[in-house]
Amino acid sequence: MKNTVATFAKMKANGEKISMLTCYDYSTAKLEEAAGINAILVGDSLGNVMLGLPDTLSVTMEDMITYGRSVARACHNTMVVIDMPFMSYQVSVEQAVMNAGRLMKEGRANAVKLEGGAAVCPQIKAITDAGIPVVAHLGLTPQSVNALGGNRIQGKSEEAAKKLIEDALAIEKAGAFALTLECIPAPLAQLITDKLSIPTIGIGAGAGCDGQILVYQDMLGLFSDYTPKFAKHFAELGTQMKEAFAAYVKEVQAGTFPAEEHTFKMDEDVLNKLY
Ligand code: KIV
Repeated sequence: MKNTVATFAKMKANGEKISMLTCYDYSTAKLEEAAGINAILVGDSLGNVMLGLPDTLSVTMEDMITYGRSVARACHNTMVVIDMPFMSYQVSVEQAVMNAGRLMKEGRANAVKLEGGAAVCPQIKAITDAGIPVVAHLGLTPQSVNALGGNRIQGKSEEAAKKLIEDALAIEKAGAFALTLECIPAPLAQLITDKLSIPTIGIGAGAGCDGQILVYQDMLGLFSDYTPKFAKHFAELGTQMKEAFAAYVKEVQAGTFPAEEHTFKMDEDVLNKLY
């Protein structure tokens, strides 16, 4: 059964935790779906983990569409949320609706995600009114890395925490069906979760959120440029991959790969005529 906005609402009402992971390609999306994940985010974090960029600012609509539709092709039950990249929604409400529409039509998303609070509520309302479900994103919002002065925890002071609560309430009113909370103190995330009727999805926001999301390369030990405190490694596939690559190099050098069973044969008579 396809996970939808209704599934998210029902899970929050029933106190069932929502599981989300990022994904950017068909093969990995098939594995995540087989594992029973509720929703996949094609995050603009692909700028970091797929494109090797220092931040998410240079990610384009075309990037999101290309990676998004490869994930969508693998997802029959899993909801696919595609991130709206930097400057695809901030300039005007009209542009935001057009670009959200492209992510649905060309990227085959089931929902879009955008960053920001009260300032982007007109966009959230207009996109939602166009029939496109919206996930909002508060706390550490990586597209604002320059304004925030780095990727650091948010909402620690009374003033900042109050602003986050106000933003969360405004986002809910504007029509978002879920809210990502990134890198904020766990008690604040719990308070926001209790105040909202829409589910919160935490990343570095503690266990009190209605669901959790991680970047899949982080949780598999595949990305070593930096490791956020909240990124638990559920496997060390990076190490396993390195070992497998090194074994391949060794066998190619030694001439032991390919072996008989990896090799195609040819009719002797045909072969003899070639000499
Ligand atoms: O782009 C992304 O992967 C995200 C998650 C970290 C929530 O926004």
